[in-house]
Amino acid sequence: MEKFIIPHIGKVTREDRKRMKNHRSFTLWFTGLSGSGKSTLSHKVEEKLYEMGIHTYVLDGDNIRMGLNKDLRFSEEDRKENIRRIGEVAKLFVDAGIVVLTAFISPYRRDRNFARSIVKEGDFIEVFVKCPVEICEERDPKGLYKKARAGIIKGFTGIDDPYEEPLNPEIIVETDKMTIDECVDKIVDYLKNKELIQT
Ligand code: ADX
Repeated sequence: MEKFIIPHIGKVTREDRKRMKNHRSFTLWFTGLSGSGKSTLSHKVEEKLYEMGIHTYVLDGDNIRMGLNKDLRFSEEDRKENIRRIGEVAKLFVDAGIVVLTAFISPYRRDRNFARSIVKEGDFIEVFVKCPVEICEERDPKGLYKKARAGIIKGFTGIDDPYEEPLNPEIIVETDKMTIDECVDKIVDYLKNKELIQT
């Protein structure tokens, strides 16, 4: 079907919003297995940024799947659509001048790369929350690995569904080897070094 869409460009720009807020906007894209620590870390980093006067927002898989994406399940197609929508929402947040932190398994490289491709270079920082599946399974904070092993949940990432590790993420944090604070510091230091945030 042919579409006749002509976007309207407002007078107030991203640059104007940046000036108003006095900080840059970008996406911190956390990816990793369920139980790897994405939600915990994204919220901890958010706290740090908030204390520095930076306007932030966390988009978290389990929360978003109760609202915006409640029509989606966990097939490859649905995960793709999940990430496509979050990529687009993150792009809007960045345009709005807000630092957006996303915490989704986002198991497919292609889907993460799509989210990266729709924003300007340097606006997308991929954080690989690395943790062996055995440790995630031991932690099992939501009891879902147990259900997956029992066959109650089918197609669970890391058990009987794939997770494609990032090949070239901006940041890697190993949550089985580092403390939460060490992981948070590594992320915040990266942002400072790249002058995405000011000290
Ligand atoms: S993604 O693969 O599409 O990126 P998302 O991050 O939104 O996943 O949601 C993952 C969360 O949904 C998990 O942390 C877990 O709580 C829950 N979940 C339920 N079923 C599954 C499943 N089959 N695979 C992975 N996570 C699942």
